[in-house]
Amino acid sequence: MDFYTAMLYRKLLRPLLFRLPPETAHEFALRALAWSPFPAPPKKETARWGALSRFGLDFPNPIGLAAGFDKNGIAVKPLAALGFGFLEVGTVTNLPQPGNDKPRLFRLPQDRALINRLGFNNHGAVALAERLKRGKPSNCVIGVNIGKSRAVAVEDAIPDYLASFQAVREVADYVTVNVSSPNTPNLRELQKPEALRELLQALQGASQRSKVEGQRSKAVPLLLKIAPDLAEGQLESIVKVAQTAGIAGLIATNTTITREGLLAARARARECGAGGLSGAPLFALSNRVLAKLYCLTGGKLPLIGVGGIFSAADAWAKICAGASLLQVYTGFVYQGPGFARELNEGLAALLAQHGFNSLDEAVGCRAEELGG
Ligand code: FNR
Repeated sequence: MDFYTAMLYRKLLRPLLFRLPPETAHEFALRALAWSPFPAPPKKETARWGALSRFGLDFPNPIGLAAGFDKNGIAVKPLAALGFGFLEVGTVTNLPQPGNDKPRLFRLPQDRALINRLGFNNHGAVALAERLKRGKPSNCVIGVNIGKSRAVAVEDAIPDYLASFQAVREVADYVTVNVSSPNTPNLRELQKPEALRELLQALQGASQRSKVEGQRSKAVPLLLKIAPDLAEGQLESIVKVAQTAGIAGLIATNTTITREGLLAARARARECGAGGLSGAPLFALSNRVLAKLYCLTGGKLPLIGVGGIFSAADAWAKICAGASLLQVYTGFVYQGPGFARELNEGLAALLAQHGFNSLDEAVGCRAEELGG
């Protein structure tokens, strides 16, 4: 990353932003980005990575922005211009909703972490689709993450997810099924095998139909995003269900409801109350899940590694644990607008340093050791 951009953010802009309540700072930063003049996104760098072909899509680089940062897709072009190879917008729900009461987003700076219980505050799937129809960035893959509307009972989740899927299927390069947010009551029940099987089969059916009905030339790749707080047996059954349903990839992981891995801020974390913990304390936990998934799938299913990436070395650790793409959220908040470029530069250097000619060669090279 440009040294001066990094210093400007870390020494000047971040201290100012961190004086504001976290959600205000987030809204401000997102709106400032949305209004900023932005250059064209960086070019695809095949020479550096080898082909980054995943579930039928070509990615310009492996660094993505995780769901929840730009829930309503208001800043996709400027975000792409910051060097992200893909952006996952959402989570959106079928019904627009305000989310939980404020305050609902907290910083733990000593731990380089965030706790949130936003509860899928969003303008709805239809509004997101309309916005994306008006303009998408070139040379950047756009995923849409869908979740359950709060007003809908978990037993009635399938029609609710299907409605969101129908709304976004034309504009999404891939769709992520979110059953792992801790902030919508009972949502994580949908990770249980029977419920998950029905949900994924219904969505896969809709995805295949979108091809037949001519909305798209190919079915929409469906990905599943899972929690880090699952026991080994649960991971095994999720993998089985996902593979049977023909899921295109898994995203590991969402935020954790545990408070393990916190170094300095336990008391502060208690004050924040319930919610999902993200950032550095999630790193080891999400890497273990990632490596387990790689071993369980025999490396055959693309895995997106997310949780606690703050440096190129962290990104490299996730590639070695089995990720073939990466996402960041909390690290981006702490490290600033040059973060995607910094990760891309550093990861490419590590790849060359370890003697690999392509990213694919390195994926999962330490998975057995970490998750076997
Ligand atoms: C999230 N995350 C998230 N995930 C998701 O699937 N849908 C969402 O709407 C949100 N919203 C959200 C809001 C906030 C404030 C945070 C911090 C996180 C989870 C996110 O995408 C990611 O999986 C985790 O944060 C772990 O990555 P990091 O933050 O440790 O890089």
